[in-house]
Amino acid sequence: MQTKPLIQKCGHVLRDCCAQFNAVHIDNLERKWIAISMMVIALLVGIITIDAFFHGVNPPGKVETIDSASLHLGKEFAEDNLGVDVNDKGEIIIRMVAGRYSFFPKHIDVPAETPLTFRWVSMDVLHGVHIPMTNMSTMIVPGYVAEITTTFPKPGEYPLLCNEYCGLGHNHMWSNISVIAKEDWQAPVKSPAKGEQQ
Ligand code: CUA
Repeated sequence: MQTKPLIQKCGHVLRDCCAQFNAVHIDNLERKWIAISMMVIALLVGIITIDAFFHGVNPPGKVETIDSASLHLGKEFAEDNLGVDVNDKGEIIIRMVAGRYSFFPKHIDVPAETPLTFRWVSMDVLHGVHIPMTNMSTMIVPGYVAEITTTFPKPGEYPLLCNEYCGLGHNHMWSNISVIAKEDWQAPVKSPAKGEQQ
């Protein structure tokens, strides 16, 4: 395809559009409202951009599937494997299951000022999880693993709230996690999974 005629054609179309736009009478008040709406759009796009680049608020970057009906039979999300875990590289991985109407395990302790990778799955229907004042806000779609990395800047009790309507008990579906000072936190000692004992 020849690019020069295409560019010329686009130029003509653009000029036509501008000419038509200029021919339309726009009232001064209308002009002001157009400018205000453009500024609102620019402001919202700006907020999204700043959140994405500086606050780490992003859509999930990968798709990972899992069979929700057999989580307890699988290795990663079996009951003994849930909660806080430190992997071989020293990264903290937290595996959580959302189900009507709670997050499991019911309670965990995590360190402050440390990157934490949460891996969420649902055992039944669509849930969501939101931790106010952090970038933790995601849908937990049955059949998929939702992975989010976050850091809690200060020790304290943080609420975990379900933010997707999941049934009659939805508004009681919340839990909390204890964030403790980095120096006071100790990695949990995992007991060997069933079947691994000698
Ligand atoms: Cu779970 Cu709403």
